[in-house]
Amino acid sequence: MSHQIRVRSASVDDVEGIYTLLKPFAEQNIILDRDRDNIFQHLQEFLVAEYDGDLAGVVCAHIYGKNMAEVRSLVVNPDFQKHGIGRLLVEGCEQWLAGLGVAKVFALTYVTGFFSKMGYRIVSKESLPHKVWTVCVHCARFADCDEVAVEKVLSDAPIEPMVLIPIIEVENR
Ligand SMILES: CC(C)(COP(=O)(O)OP(=O)(O)OC[C@H]1O[C@@H](n2cnc3c(N)ncnc32)[C@H](O)[C@@H]1OP(=O)(O)O)[C@@H](O)C(=O)NCCC(=O)NCCS
Repeated sequence: MSHQIRVRSASVDDVEGIYTLLKPFAEQNIILDRDRDNIFQHLQEFLVAEYDGDLAGVVCAHIYGKNMAEVRSLVVNPDFQKHGIGRLLVEGCEQWLAGLGVAKVFALTYVTGFFSKMGYRIVSKESLPHKVWTVCVHCARFADCDEVAVEKVLSDAPIEPMVLIPIIEVENR
């Protein structure tokens, strides 16, 4: 029997599902804790994955600058892990960021094996932009952080901005 996986941008209707997915992993300090307000405020940074229509995974892409964005809040529901969903979420993020012209992406993680399969290499945490730590100070493990920094260079293909409203002709007034 075949199954359908779809990766798409998140909508306001996903907020409760995203919150429920992230919560148990935030409680284990694997990812940063986010309340519903925080998810609403960053909603345009989130992608979600559906498995046969069910919300199965989530990821967030946060841009710090032209040369650096972070893949964060990456979670796949344990019932749906090892089906390639984590890979599709990370690839979706990378395509999205590359389309915006971002040159490099990093993550702070405990699953270096997974990111290595995604083509990331381990780098020193000191090489990351200082702005990163303004978020990390909210983490319970900040003082004793044992996460590993990984990064990947994205394609430097020409940027194709998304056209929201096609060119229209207007009368001179
Ligand atoms: C890490 C996580 C997102 C992976 O999601 P997933 O959907 O199971 O991953 P995929 O099925 O897409 O795996 C892609 C590849 O990575 C490998 N992989 C997955 N998890 C791995 C792990 N923990 N360690 C090493 N390799 C791993 C898979 O075997 C697969 O390899 P293949 O392409 O050779 O078959 C998921 O395990 C998860 O949600 N973990 C808990 C939260 C977490 O740690 N998030 C990361 C925060 S930075």
